[in-house]
Amino acid sequence: MAQKSPRPLVAGNWKMNGTTAALKEARLLAGMLKDVRLKCEVMLCPPATLISAVRTVVKGARIRLGGQDCHWNANGAHTGDISAEMLKDAGCSAVIVGHSERRTDHGETDEIVRRKAEAAHAAGLIAIVCIGETLEQRKSGQTLAVISRQLKGSVPAGSTAANTVIAYEPVWAIGTGLTPTTAEVGEVHQSIRRETDPLMRILYGGSVKPANAAELMAVANVNGALVGGASLKAADFIGIIKAYA
Ligand code: PGA
Repeated sequence: MAQKSPRPLVAGNWKMNGTTAALKEARLLAGMLKDVRLKCEVMLCPPATLISAVRTVVKGARIRLGGQDCHWNANGAHTGDISAEMLKDAGCSAVIVGHSERRTDHGETDEIVRRKAEAAHAAGLIAIVCIGETLEQRKSGQTLAVISRQLKGSVPAGSTAANTVIAYEPVWAIGTGLTPTTAEVGEVHQSIRRETDPLMRILYGGSVKPANAAELMAVANVNGALVGGASLKAADFIGIIKAYA
């Protein structure tokens, strides 16, 4: 029997961008996807304020929805926070946890990220767990050690290919236009693969653009992309999705 391989996922993370005016990009994307023979799953992670509205405008299109973060508790007195259950209720099938911007802006540790992933699982959401080294760590040869430590600390024991996606995002590549070489991406993804289920998706993220998507997505053990800036415009995002068309 042929070895099954993970179904790729291309997820767009709008971060703290987008008001109702951005709904037109989601609508455009839904229209563009009609003409594409998709060999991957497509996901949008809009800001929480837009999840329901995006859900409405992409109805019927093959677009999944994800949150950008969740609290580790299911509910309670946590002003401003959003629970995994709330995201599920709003129509999400996944949530990003441990994005480097959250680790930096909100001091999230591996343990916090792991608890958030556990909350996602408990709510029936896929946890997209982000890991990645800083430039200093790469320059001092610590990349694989950092990745391994973050994997062990951030990914709940018992995670499966069905409920967890790993996103490798070198911190220095996020929003900078810089990317690692395909050899560097391949080395990290192979090391992650050694520590995970063979069917668990391992996304690459960090300055993925239409111009570099095909090359990055062709690297062994890269099972899709987590896209920031280039997911904000449907015309760019579709260019990345087409790496799998
Ligand atoms: P970028 O962001 O594509 O804008 O570099 C990636 C991410 O943070 O997920």
